[in-house]
Amino acid sequence: MRELQLREHIEAQIRQIESLSQSEKYVEAYLLSTTVIEAIGFYKRYWDLDFTSLFSRILAVQPEYQFMMVFTAELLYQQGHYVSASDLAALAVRLENSGDFFNINYIRMLRAADRLDQARSECLRLLDLGPNEQNIMAELAQCDAYGHFSDKDYYSVLHAVHAKYSPATYLEIGVAQGRSLALVGKQARAIGIDPDTAEQGRMMYMSPENCPLLFRTTSDDFFERADLPALLEADTLAMAFLDGLHLFEQTLRDFINVERFSGPETMVFIHDGLPVNRLVAERNRKTAFWVGDVWKIIPCLKEVRPDLEVITFPVQPSGLTLIRGLDPKSRVFERQFDVITSHFRGLELPEAWDERNCLLNITSQPPEQVLGLSELR
Ligand SMILES: C[S@@+](CC[C@H](N)C(=O)[O-])C[C@H]1O[C@@H](n2cnc3c(N)ncnc32)[C@H](O)[C@@H]1O
Repeated sequence: MRELQLREHIEAQIRQIESLSQSEKYVEAYLLSTTVIEAIGFYKRYWDLDFTSLFSRILAVQPEYQFMMVFTAELLYQQGHYVSASDLAALAVRLENSGDFFNINYIRMLRAADRLDQARSECLRLLDLGPNEQNIMAELAQCDAYGHFSDKDYYSVLHAVHAKYSPATYLEIGVAQGRSLALVGKQARAIGIDPDTAEQGRMMYMSPENCPLLFRTTSDDFFERADLPALLEADTLAMAFLDGLHLFEQTLRDFINVERFSGPETMVFIHDGLPVNRLVAERNRKTAFWVGDVWKIIPCLKEVRPDLEVITFPVQPSGLTLIRGLDPKSRVFERQFDVITSHFRGLELPEAWDERNCLLNITSQPPEQVLGLSELR
């Protein structure tokens, strides 16, 4: 039933691509096409649902061969065929009108195919054309940092955690298009919070098994007004994922609010604890790929709350931090919030990877081992 609903949802997005294209909004049509192709890849990878039959309808919207190549490369990439994807993309980017937007996807494909030298050259070629292109600089930084990351991304870890632990209650701050929220299984009483998108029908992704409660508001507003145990029908959270506003003090506030509803088994995950460089870790956003200064929460937790277990997995694209051993009675952060935040806000991200890994508690143990998970997808 839910599978049918998902298919209809994707079909509605394809109709939207058609109408954008008819109104000559080609950039928007292109971006939405890429997002829908990503979604097709996501459902296959994590839910074994195959919507590939809808792909040809995306191709049919703008049947010029440049777009066909670009979109086919994207589908191959989403399905994990990185070498073929980057081969096809290499041909596509050399064609006129393949679109500037595609360059960044091409660089990602090269990286995924372990063609790092080519990915770097492509970045440098594009920087030559527009030297201040911050987004390409962020891509170049990802190439340089590639060896410090595992080849899995944070979705793979979250997916495996849901599959292994089937958390009964789950809260996510910052849902965006609903991609991480769509990993939640049927057993969970789930809540998603986001001031922009957390509303039925606004998000691209949905779990085929779960209908979360959605709150279109900020996390602060949610915690001020909501009766969380009543919503959860339980006193504690089994799992939370903090991925909202990418600023240190906001993430700390989100952590404080979540910890009040923790129990002995609660797992909290925080996204973006391992920035690839200082540019993407600045408090003022300059790049599309931006992680902000969330990372400062890690040294802060380590120093102020040595009772917590804090482990950062170096997964793509910016790390995933696990916190266990929470204490719902702890009020240290609340009592000294301003002093603590002003102290840690001044930290600089270490340039040297050894130092960075140490400061951010990067583990060399794979998440499967630390969390007892089966093989990551
Ligand atoms: C990186 S995205 C989340 C991605 C999503 N968790 C995923 O992995 O698919 C960050 C989201 O946080 C939301 N956000 C920004 N400020 C927020 C706040 N104060 N409270 C909750 N969400 C916020 C943004 O609207 C954005 O959609």
